[in-house]
Amino acid sequence: MQSIVDAMYKNRTLVFGHRGASAYAPMNTIPAYELAAEQGADGIELDVHRSKDGHAVIVHDFTVDHTTDGSGRVDAMTLAELKALDAGSWFGESFKNIRLPTLGEVFEAVGQRVFVNVEIKSESLTTDGVEQVVADVIAHHHMQQRVIVSSFNPLALQRFRGILPDVPIGFLYAPNMPVDIQALMRQIGLPHEARHPYHGMIDSAYMAWAKGEGYRVNTWTVNDPIRAVELRDLGVDGIITDKPDVMLKALRGA
Ligand code: G3P
Ligand code: MG
Repeated sequence: MQSIVDAMYKNRTLVFGHRGASAYAPMNTIPAYELAAEQGADGIELDVHRSKDGHAVIVHDFTVDHTTDGSGRVDAMTLAELKALDAGSWFGESFKNIRLPTLGEVFEAVGQRVFVNVEIKSESLTTDGVEQVVADVIAHHHMQQRVIVSSFNPLALQRFRGILPDVPIGFLYAPNMPVDIQALMRQIGLPHEARHPYHGMIDSAYMAWAKGEGYRVNTWTVNDPIRAVELRDLGVDGIITDKPDVMLKALRGA
């Protein structure tokens, strides 16, 4: 099976479903990932946290308030407590009772059909152990060649690399962030395979710099087909989108 790094070297812009095909199904749920795979996405992106009892749970925010019928911090709840929540009704009645998935459940559902961009959510200088939990699940499912691990937190990437050094990592960033994470990344000097900037930061000068540094470039969140074609023509390696179907049509006529 082709590895994610080989695929990114193949001169074809990969399409990743952002939180799944999240324009059409509740973000970060199995139906959203299944739909992305059915639409023909090359990969999916997901957001991972560590539950209180040490499981890798997929949800975007640090709390469950916005995308479930519960409230509270993800890292303060056990897997059983998180699994009791309805993570679909907020999006639509037809998704009622969809559960928050674990990383292992996502790998089992779609891991052999799509690459997986595992975004570690971590907002502190110290760790709750999320990197170890994510690494353990990747290794358990033999997904080392099928994933890229990304984060806005350079320290999380550094910790993950220390555990599973052969897995590619991508550094996420956006303009005007409260902490200068680019300076932090320079300071720690962590080698990484990919840059994951907000798409508005990309132009030809950016791409010349990134390619000169040897980085793959995966960008988010692109839902406009015209912008997708521009980014492809600039040499972007991967587009992370809520609408894989629209991007695939724009980029490949599929
Ligand atoms: O990985 C790209 C994108 O997911 C980063 O931002 O907030 O959607 O997780 P966010
Ligand atoms: Mg994300």
